[in-house]
Amino acid sequence: MSDSLDSLLRPFEHKSLKLRNRTAMAPMTRTFSPGYVANEQVAGYYRRRAEGEVGLIITEGTFVGHKAANGYENVPAIFGDEAMAGWKKVVDEVHAAGGQIIPQLWHVGAVRKEGIGPDKAVPGYSPSGLFKPGKPNGHAMTREDIQDVVRAFADAAKAAKEVGFDGVEIHGAHGYLIDQFFWEGTNQRDDEYGGSIENRGRFAVEIVEAVREAVGEDFAIVLRYSQWKQQDYDARLAQNPEELQRFLTPLVDAGVDIFHASTRRFWVPEFEGSDLNLAGWTKELTGKPVISVGSVGLDDDFIGGNNQGMGGTANPTGLDELTRRMDNGEFDMIAVGRALLQDPNWLVKIRDGREEEIVPFTKEALTSLS
Ligand SMILES: Cc1cc2nc3c(=O)[nH]c(=O)nc-3n(C[C@H](O)[C@H](O)[C@H](O)COP(=O)(O)O)c2cc1C
Repeated sequence: MSDSLDSLLRPFEHKSLKLRNRTAMAPMTRTFSPGYVANEQVAGYYRRRAEGEVGLIITEGTFVGHKAANGYENVPAIFGDEAMAGWKKVVDEVHAAGGQIIPQLWHVGAVRKEGIGPDKAVPGYSPSGLFKPGKPNGHAMTREDIQDVVRAFADAAKAAKEVGFDGVEIHGAHGYLIDQFFWEGTNQRDDEYGGSIENRGRFAVEIVEAVREAVGEDFAIVLRYSQWKQQDYDARLAQNPEELQRFLTPLVDAGVDIFHASTRRFWVPEFEGSDLNLAGWTKELTGKPVISVGSVGLDDDFIGGNNQGMGGTANPTGLDELTRRMDNGEFDMIAVGRALLQDPNWLVKIRDGREEEIVPFTKEALTSLS
């Protein structure tokens, strides 16, 4: 093992997470779950990443038990006996291979269109009935709707714990429902869920509190958030560290254990005057452990080439900048998406100095579960 990878390969522990190293598989929607159930093929796909010694597997987005939570066919659900039996098999296989795994809990909000299952008549639900500024879609949520969705996240987290998952990640990123509340471009409410940055964070705060109540103190809650939106790559929730602090503090108080700050390129400084990326700033401002992400091992960034933002072709590149930042303690863990989607053994190949054997990511990798 090369000395320079030590900061990546050291164990990481926090509450229920006891990880053999500091790599995570980034959550990636794969749409290979017919009937909304993660099946044997899905279990094998995750098991192979655990066999490839990935520290923490974060599953693809899995939709919670609210009628408008789902946005795409063949995405797995995280409620109901059949779906949970499927997930139990996934969890057991990952554990048998020495890995840990958390589900990404998801509600797509106004990204949903009528005609998508399970109930095709249900429209998108969102804070103000907007897909993006100037583009209406679906239903503006009432307070009762908000409480239903909060409950659905808590129930999903409880169900996840019951089948043996090692924690949960709440999907608050990329312009889906929680992020539609965060972002003023899609949140035009004039009640306590809209307006100030604190009010726009209230929905997420209530979700985190309800999840904590459902899973207990020791079960790790990760929150993923992003500045960028699929609706607008240049959008920002916080223009400066002071705003970011105002955004993050109530989430810490609500019970977030680990922040997963989603960026498209991990080496890009977030604010002027400092080298820190978004994860680095999040750690600096909250003192919480953080996961960074974005184009690790690739020479291309995460390009929204089609309707699910999954495009891009990329070649393996060096890890010096990553290990420099991890050595400096800027972030605690690094999530890897496309490189691991393509090559389940990406980590062991870099660890063992077999980089030339890494299979570079191409879009063809999206067409099967290898
Ligand atoms: C095929 C694909 C599906 C994705 N699905 C999700 C998802 O369900 N939830 C999520 O938070 N991010 C999703 N992402 C974003 C990734 O988690 C990750 O942030 C992004 O790919 C950048 O990491 P990378 O450059 O290492 O691939 C997806 C990305 C890809 C390529």
